[in-house]
Amino acid sequence: MIRIKYKRLGSSKNASTLIRVTTMTGIAKTLSDHHKLCDALFAQCERAALEQRWAETDEFHARFCRAMDAHLGAEESVLFPAFESAVGSMDGPTRVMRAEHAQMRDFLQRLTQSVGERRYADYADCAEMLLILMRQHNLKEENILYPMCARTLAPRSNELTRQLAQALTPP
Ligand SMILES: [Fe+2]
Repeated sequence: MIRIKYKRLGSSKNASTLIRVTTMTGIAKTLSDHHKLCDALFAQCERAALEQRWAETDEFHARFCRAMDAHLGAEESVLFPAFESAVGSMDGPTRVMRAEHAQMRDFLQRLTQSVGERRYADYADCAEMLLILMRQHNLKEENILYPMCARTLAPRSNELTRQLAQALTPP
C-alpha cells in the first residue's frame, strides 16, 4: 500500500505550504526494508573478506546467504504467484525478476566457493558483479514492481504482508 499524507511546512499563518509525503507501507515497505538488511549483511561480509578475517567471513557470508534465500523465496513463493494470479499472466515483470534471481543464486554459490577456498580475488570479483546486479534488480523492484503489486494486490495487502514477513523471518 502506498500511503499519501500531507504535511504543513513553515510557521507563518499566511504562508504555510502543504507538501505531499509519500510513505510506503505493507508489501512494498516490508520487502524494501529487507533489501536494506541484505545490503548491510553483504557489506559486513565484504569488509571481513577484504581484511581476510576468514572465520568472521564464514559467519557473515552464511548469514547473508540465509537472508538472501529468505528474500528470494518470499518473493517467489508469496508475492510473484499472488501478482501473477491477479493479472492472469506469468509473462510480465515477474518472469524477468525470476531470471535475475537465478543469476543471483549462481553468484551466491560462487561466493560460497571462494569463501570456502579463502580466495579473496575471486570473492572480490564475484561480489562486485553481484552488487551491481542486486542494485539494478532492487531498484526495478522498489520503483516499479512493488508499487505495481501494492496497487494490484491492495485488497489482500494485510494478508500478504503477514505471509511475507513470516517467510522473511529466519527459522
Ligand atoms: Fe527480487
